Amino acid sequence: MRVTASAPGRVNLIGEHTDYNAGFVLPFALPFRTTVTGVRSRRQQWTVTSAWAPGQSTSFGRPEAAPGTATWVDYVRGVVWALLDEGYEVPGADLHITSDVPVGSGLSSSAALECAVLTALIELGDLDIPVTDRPAIAQRAENAFVGVPCGIMDQSASILSEAGHALLLDCRTLETEHIPFDATILVIDTRAPHRLVDGEYAQRRATCEAAARELLVPALRDADLSDVDRLADPVTRRRARHVVTENARVLETVALLAAGKVTDIGPLMTESHTSLKNDFEVTVPELDIAVAAALEAGAHGARMTGGGFGGCVIALVEPRDVAFVTESVESAFARGRFTPPSCFVAAPSAGAHLE
Ligand code: GLA
Repeated sequence: MRVTASAPGRVNLIGEHTDYNAGFVLPFALPFRTTVTGVRSRRQQWTVTSAWAPGQSTSFGRPEAAPGTATWVDYVRGVVWALLDEGYEVPGADLHITSDVPVGSGLSSSAALECAVLTALIELGDLDIPVTDRPAIAQRAENAFVGVPCGIMDQSASILSEAGHALLLDCRTLETEHIPFDATILVIDTRAPHRLVDGEYAQRRATCEAAARELLVPALRDADLSDVDRLADPVTRRRARHVVTENARVLETVALLAAGKVTDIGPLMTESHTSLKNDFEVTVPELDIAVAAALEAGAHGARMTGGGFGGCVIALVEPRDVAFVTESVESAFARGRFTPPSCFVAAPSAGAHLE
């Protein structure tokens, strides 16, 4: 038996660092996908080959504990581990992987890999796992096996997105709504190297969880601005203020989209960036410069997307302004002597599926 499954990377329209605070996010899937072709093997053994490492293959038996350092094959191992750990009969398989999702740009290439492998293995093993339960399995592979303490946004976007729509996800109830989204989003990959990502991300998460404990609420989703003012430490206060205001911005964005006021979400995107820069402190100069240059060139709004510390900016632009905004951002980067950014327009695309 042979199956081919693919899963996309994502950008997040708004709702950053809210997922692990039980809040709201609004990502959409990119037209870039990771594709896995799988053939069942007779033994419980998995062999992985990929276009990234031609001529090389890695084989493993039943994965045990988490590895020390993660390579991309560990994301595959992690998915096999998570399925086995939840009691599913995962068939052994030969898996071949190709991808056009940019790696290291904060566009969730790892979620795309996990979700494509998961979709292929579910089909190969004829496993009865509802689509809505799948993001948590892929997230578990990343949290408990690879050791990255991410929230559930990226895997949900990769699995549950629909073309032409952004995905509103309530990260507490895991309820979703597909929000029609028809506007031009210019993605600016700053190519800024991710700096200290893992440690800083885990630290932000820990600070948010400590803030919730101090406020005696289950998560920062349950706090409001008056609660935030009661937090003793000024840094913690800023972090919590970002989460509280960001959740409100997601809901406001959804209301504006429902009312057909697409361009009005621009200022909310820009406020989100300011909050991530000043309160959550996860931007770097390249992200701030890309946002400023895009706005200067006439974008309705712009913000960093993803975890921060490098990665991409998204800008809401009129179709006729794409070239001008792109050139303006490129010139600003050249003036600052930064690596040239890579810019592309991204339409909301389909989530994971069999080919
Ligand atoms: C990364 C994580 C997500 C989310 C974002 C920030 O992409 O994988 O779970 O926390 O950062 O919004």
